[in-house]
Amino acid sequence: MKLGLFYFSGTGNTEHIAAAIADELAGMNVEIDTFNITSYKQRQQKYDLSPYNAFIFGAPIYAWRIPAVVRDWLKSLNGEGKKCATFFTYGGVAVGGAHFNTREILEQSNFILVASSEFPGKHTFNLAGWNFLEKRPDKRDYDLAKRFARNIMKKFQEKETNSLQVENPLISNHVFQRFEHREKTLPTPSRRGKDCSMCRTCEEVCPSQAMNADIGEADNKKCLRCLKCLVNCPDNVLEIDDMTPLSEFILNANHITKDELEKRISKFYC
Ligand SMILES: Cc1cc2nc3c(=O)[nH]c(=O)nc-3n(C[C@H](O)[C@H](O)[C@H](O)COP(=O)(O)O)c2cc1C
Ligand code: SF4
Ligand code: SF4
Repeated sequence: MKLGLFYFSGTGNTEHIAAAIADELAGMNVEIDTFNITSYKQRQQKYDLSPYNAFIFGAPIYAWRIPAVVRDWLKSLNGEGKKCATFFTYGGVAVGGAHFNTREILEQSNFILVASSEFPGKHTFNLAGWNFLEKRPDKRDYDLAKRFARNIMKKFQEKETNSLQVENPLISNHVFQRFEHREKTLPTPSRRGKDCSMCRTCEEVCPSQAMNADIGEADNKKCLRCLKCLVNCPDNVLEIDDMTPLSEFILNANHITKDELEKRISKFYC
């Protein structure tokens, strides 16, 4: 069996889980090709899915769903009735409707979702003053990723082609739209007039063509706040405004404490 694993990752959590899953499968002598689809350029490439028997898709949770650019990319594929599994990393707050929404998209693209999973990871906005799950993913999460890998292999090899039953969390489009609107009010990374070596890495890695290396600013409308530019800048000159006050608001709105966040565990469904 030959598998294709595709992942999006801004700050590395999803990439680390992808590597744990791929390593485990490679150790089982499964042939697996891994593709990073984070940057705009990587998603413009045409991927030939025909050599693969099944697929694994990974993404972070942004406002209770996977990022819009990943949703759009999945919609552009044709799964030709093959099986797939999904995995998500999230900052401990909430996965929201991601398992359900992503299954719907995958079904429309002619894939059969047979397993899904979620892994807590340090929150992207820890780079802007939050301190949610600073040490995750950790060994327990990687162990669960390996167990998930073994379980999806069983599901991929089964003759049965029933899709994973996922509860519909009944989140209205209005709620998602409100989140999207709020996202655009968050600060974006910028160079703040500082000098840099003009390597243009920030532009190259950007998932949404938002970053302009010449001025060192991101386009507010296009920017996903993934902070990939910030973590990849070799001169370390990109900055983002402090978002500490927002972390308290998010905890209160979700009726959760920091201690409860730390107790989040990785889970899989199959
Ligand atoms: C715009 C944005 C929205 C986010 N929304 C959520 C959310 O709804 N729930 C949550 O728990 N974490 C949320 N996070 C945190 C990320 O899901 C988490 O840090 C993830 O592991 C990042 O993965 P990466 O390191 O692969 O980019 C959000 C992060 C960003 C940038
Ligand atoms: S990645 Fe950093 S050093 Fe390179 S162009 Fe962008 S801001 Fe300048
Ligand atoms: S400009 Fe925005 S979307 Fe582009 S890499 Fe930076 S944070 Fe992500």
